[in-house]
Amino acid sequence: MSTLRAVVHNAVGLGLFAAVTVGVIALTATFTSERIAAQEERVRQAALFEILEATTDADIDLDQRVALTVSALGHREAREAVIARRNGRAVALIVPVRIPDGYGGPIEVLLGIEPDGRVAGVRVVAHRETPGLGDDIERRRSDWIESFRGRGLGEPPLAQWTVRADGGAFDGFTGATITPRAVARGLGRALVWFEDDGYTLLEDAP
Ligand SMILES: Cc1cc2nc3c(=O)[nH]c(=O)nc-3n(C[C@H](O)[C@H](O)[C@H](O)COP(=O)(O)O)c2cc1C
Repeated sequence: MSTLRAVVHNAVGLGLFAAVTVGVIALTATFTSERIAAQEERVRQAALFEILEATTDADIDLDQRVALTVSALGHREAREAVIARRNGRAVALIVPVRIPDGYGGPIEVLLGIEPDGRVAGVRVVAHRETPGLGDDIERRRSDWIESFRGRGLGEPPLAQWTVRADGGAFDGFTGATITPRAVARGLGRALVWFEDDGYTLLEDAP
């Protein structure tokens, strides 16, 4: 084989190899992102049920969705909130809140708020806190997140929506104060938004 033919032969071989590799990577990325999206949706659905302490679809109607872009809730683009109903009556607004100042990065929660401004329930749906230190915000790791259920502004007052180490009303975690502080303060801020503006979404709900 002449040198030129050998070079062309190798170049074609390499080109084909590169094309196949790129194709395989692109396909894998597509399937992976679809699986991640499906998994995120499952986590979200489970969180909605847990926030409302619902066990079956018959208990609760989660079909009414509203798009919200609220910078006070950390939204940088439109996010989906849910107006939850029982027997046709709006019982809670469930809003996504992005708490920016976790130890490992933003903490994504779903916060259910009752028409009177009290917390119906909260679930952390994504975070990058350290396993064994900051991840007690997850319900499967601890019941800490349940300490917000039923609380509203005034119970405690806004200044106490933080950890006890700061004079707040909520427990911290041993050796990891940053995570629970961020969550407690972030939820307090979200309740202020509800009291100022968000309540109208439930009042105006058809
Ligand atoms: C590797 C590493 C990971 C940490 N992860 C967390 C965390 O996830 N959440 C947190 O609040 N603090 C975390 N901390 C601890 C903080 O640095 C800080 O010491 C602590 O939150 C302050 O709480 P304290 O007042 O109870 O000491 C981590 C520290 C190290 C060295």
